[in-house]
Amino acid sequence: MSHAHGTHAHGTHAHGPHEHGAPAHHPHEPTPHDSPDLSALQAEVLDLDAEVLASHIASLTDWLPLTAAPRHIVDLGAGTGAGTFALLARFPEAHVTAVDTSAPHLQRLREKACAAGLEGRVRTVQADLDAPAWPELGTPGLVWASASMHHMADPDQALRHVRELLAPEGLFALLELSGFPRFLPAGEEAALEERAHTASDRFHAEHVPHRGAEWGPKLTEAGFTIADERTLDVRIEAPENPAIARYALAGLTRLRTTVAETLSPDDLRALDTLIAPERLTERRDLTVRTTRRIWAARP
Ligand SMILES: C[S@@+](CC[C@H](N)C(=O)[O-])C[C@H]1O[C@@H](n2cnc3c(N)ncnc32)[C@H](O)[C@@H]1O
Repeated sequence: MSHAHGTHAHGTHAHGPHEHGAPAHHPHEPTPHDSPDLSALQAEVLDLDAEVLASHIASLTDWLPLTAAPRHIVDLGAGTGAGTFALLARFPEAHVTAVDTSAPHLQRLREKACAAGLEGRVRTVQADLDAPAWPELGTPGLVWASASMHHMADPDQALRHVRELLAPEGLFALLELSGFPRFLPAGEEAALEERAHTASDRFHAEHVPHRGAEWGPKLTEAGFTIADERTLDVRIEAPENPAIARYALAGLTRLRTTVAETLSPDDLRALDTLIAPERLTERRDLTVRTTRRIWAARP
């Protein structure tokens, strides 16, 4: 039996900009890799996002305007493998190279691959995609980057790398989310959640400035032709699915770490009451509301 194997790209380290940390040029800000707790929390959020949105992610892999089924796929900023596993399921003949800065995320991805018997179809590469040169990633027919390009300090450079990497007939699928999901159904709780997001948006505007960027023009500038694009409005109300409450708990706990110093003391207290695990995970009225955008581009 073969094993999912990892490569540590030369000269790269597990350090880079992250959703709830800061880009490399803000070294005073925490990143998930500075704190095992933050890294584990991010991994949990990514896993729950993959679980709760599985059918939506599958619908996006079905939608891809490919000219031929890809044999080799590269997942950039793969995290714990949301895209990797969706793509392995969609393209049974393909193997996936999953690239990320985070050693713990890639370790988790490898463990999941082994548990699913998919280890022979997955390679992990630990690398910083902000580095001027990328490691050897082959000539993929599909490059997938979900919620990772906005983390780049220089996304234009990364997009040029993707164009050079792709096979001539290949496709680049770039996914981004417009803000983090909302969970509270209504009333003062939803208003509190919104205020926390406003505070978090201020943090991200400073530290992760490319979040919410217009990727269409950036792709064109990098030499891509946009084949298609799509906006997916996700509204999940599934009281019988306990993963939604777990996702809300992990997501709101992570949101709290970002806004702890900027939210008003009253709001912070109210948020702490709201996210007390024994209360939140019992709830069956939580929803997942989020918007994902995807661009499909040819080199
Ligand atoms: C929001 S997560 C998305 C993970 C996954 N694509 C998904 O959709 O669940 C962003 C990922 O990008 C990775 N990342 C951020 N900056 C990076 C960089 N400079 N090079 C490689 N990976 C990076 C992070 O470690 C993280 O796993």
